[in-house]
Amino acid sequence: MKREHLKNRCLDLEQVTLGVCYYPEHWDSGLWADDLKRMKEHGIEVVRIAEFAWNKFEPREGEFTIGWFDPFMELAEEAGIKVIFCTPTATPPAWLTEKYPEVLNADADGHPYHHGMRRHYNYTSSKYWELSRRLIQKLAVHYCGYSNVIGWQLDNEINCEICEFYAPSDHKAFRQYVKEKYKTLDQFNEKMGTVFWNQTYSDWDEIFLRRHTPGNLNNPHMQLEGKRFISHAAISFLKMQADTIRPYLRGDQFITTNGIFPNLDYQKLVPDVLDFITYDNYPNFSFSMDANPRREGNMRDRNSSFNLARVRSISPVFGIMEQQSGPGGWNMRMNQPMPKPGQMRLWTMQAIAHGADYVGYFRWRTCGVGTEIYWHGLNDYSNEPNRRLEELKQIHEDTQKLSKAGLAGARYAAEYAILRDYDNDWDGAEDKMYGPLEEKSLDGWFRAFQKEHVPFDFFYWRDDTEAEDLKAYRALIYPHPAILTQHRAQVLQEYMEAGGTVIFGSRTGYKDEYGRCPMRPMPGFAKELCGVRVTDYTLLGPDDDPEYAIWDGEEIPAPWFNDILEPEDGGEVLAVFCGNYYDGQPALIRKNTGKGWGYYFGGGFDEHTARTFIRKLNMKAVEGLADVPEDVEAAVREKTVMIKEDGTEVIGRYVFLLNYTKKEQTVTLTAPFTNVFTNECVEGSVELPPYGAVCLVHTLSVGCGE
Ligand code: GAL
Repeated sequence: MKREHLKNRCLDLEQVTLGVCYYPEHWDSGLWADDLKRMKEHGIEVVRIAEFAWNKFEPREGEFTIGWFDPFMELAEEAGIKVIFCTPTATPPAWLTEKYPEVLNADADGHPYHHGMRRHYNYTSSKYWELSRRLIQKLAVHYCGYSNVIGWQLDNEINCEICEFYAPSDHKAFRQYVKEKYKTLDQFNEKMGTVFWNQTYSDWDEIFLRRHTPGNLNNPHMQLEGKRFISHAAISFLKMQADTIRPYLRGDQFITTNGIFPNLDYQKLVPDVLDFITYDNYPNFSFSMDANPRREGNMRDRNSSFNLARVRSISPVFGIMEQQSGPGGWNMRMNQPMPKPGQMRLWTMQAIAHGADYVGYFRWRTCGVGTEIYWHGLNDYSNEPNRRLEELKQIHEDTQKLSKAGLAGARYAAEYAILRDYDNDWDGAEDKMYGPLEEKSLDGWFRAFQKEHVPFDFFYWRDDTEAEDLKAYRALIYPHPAILTQHRAQVLQEYMEAGGTVIFGSRTGYKDEYGRCPMRPMPGFAKELCGVRVTDYTLLGPDDDPEYAIWDGEEIPAPWFNDILEPEDGGEVLAVFCGNYYDGQPALIRKNTGKGWGYYFGGGFDEHTARTFIRKLNMKAVEGLADVPEDVEAAVREKTVMIKEDGTEVIGRYVFLLNYTKKEQTVTLTAPFTNVFTNECVEGSVELPPYGAVCLVHTLSVGCGE
């Protein structure tokens, strides 16, 4: 691995690198050397260890056995295997939670979560901070010194399993948080709308996070504030860990954490605390018994590309800390089929296509004990050779070829982005009127972009986002930002003046940053941007016919929730509603601002509607491909491979084609490419076997057959 790995909060490796999650504490130490040897033989170069091993370092309070992993570390060093070391705070030991029950998380009734699973602690107990910091410091002093330790993972999957916290210390810390933010109770009461239902607070100690109420409803503005607080608490807890390790870190060692979960602002977490994000990628969830609807139909495992797009919005080049390598299943839930031949390679290539330069498989060997006895790793219980290990060898050969072709560091290339922000994500999660709309429209746009083969990014607002940051994109889709601040509208206005296009859907701009609905015409600050006024609005109920809009004679669905529109200040009507009591009234209005455009659509975006926007606005599909079957994903990574003497840049374009089906697929090409895996020149078309993946390099960049 390259020493200067920290650039723009991206993982920075010279090679596409494979790794694996390993649990020395689960196995007889007699197996370690053979495991490491076989890892190496299969192309594994990195192991991640210790994230659940607190007991091994401190079996009883204050009794430290910090060097417990030393014999394993020495064997890894001898075998030439590098190590990502973890802080083990995701699983506090039983002695700790018994003696200090205040460290436990609790449900909204205040009942604590007990020992026996994991992630049962809270982020705000001073005792947990004290004991965690003490252990982490000792681990950092001891393990940073190993030359093969390349970095640290903090905790494990922050906010996974449980992303709400209601222990006494959480309520207390929330009070402190709002006190610092709002300064006076009058301010707090006003912004939280506590005048409603007599919720006015007269003492800070009366304020709580969510608690059990009749109907389980809580003040929505305080719920939004509560989520901001949870994010803040999680980031503070991880920052304490990072600050404890950093003084002992060598310049070539990184700090990261794994996974993306609710109620956490990763756009803050990464620059404030981490060097880059890593993701835990389990595409096989799509085939489990309790699959979620967004993964259904022909999206299934391809839906991981939705998640990977989110990862890229945090760190454009990232690592996969846990990549699925077998069927998943706990003893009580989530049973999944065995990945079919080729699927493990396909999912690896999918992650790489979206920007992963490190892929670490979960896990080396399936554990024979505990909750995860059905969560398979590369090796089965038997430890005998198997099909997945053979597939791993193939993956290793292919990743070596990708490295040779110079892929490491290349960034996913997209000219369109879906705008998102945490305020709307969190407010929407509590809002039955707005929340489900956003989810459905994100799904519609994702499916549309995928099937039209138009690469897109998610762009998450940061507090310091400027129009300049958005200019890399030709068009932005901001499906339903109920909360749209004046500042953000101004940034979008500047972006439009410079030539950008912004597309909004219904329910835009009717809330303020506290989730309140101010007295002003709708759609709030989007009004000027699109030359539109919302005159009426309605949820489409069970007795409403499916709603359509007619755009240039074409019928497009306008589902779920309609804003009935009227043009003003330069707004131009492009489509009208068809059906319901507002038949014939404007459904789509656009306005020209500077060199750009603002569009306001008075409906949600299903796949059909989003595809119509893509076609009518001429959004560009991946270049060099003519006929790509819908079931195949096309993704591109690009980087500057050379700067010529005259200063012109030569861009390397790596086009990934991913076949998620059990059928062979053919992709027609309009330009000659080199197939990175066969080193052959391909022209005319390329065949993809069932679950196949190819990477084509544009011959203009590297030359055919080189
Ligand atoms: C991840 C977690 C791992 C393991 C895996 C399979 O979410 O980080 O520790 O539990 O899922 O369940």
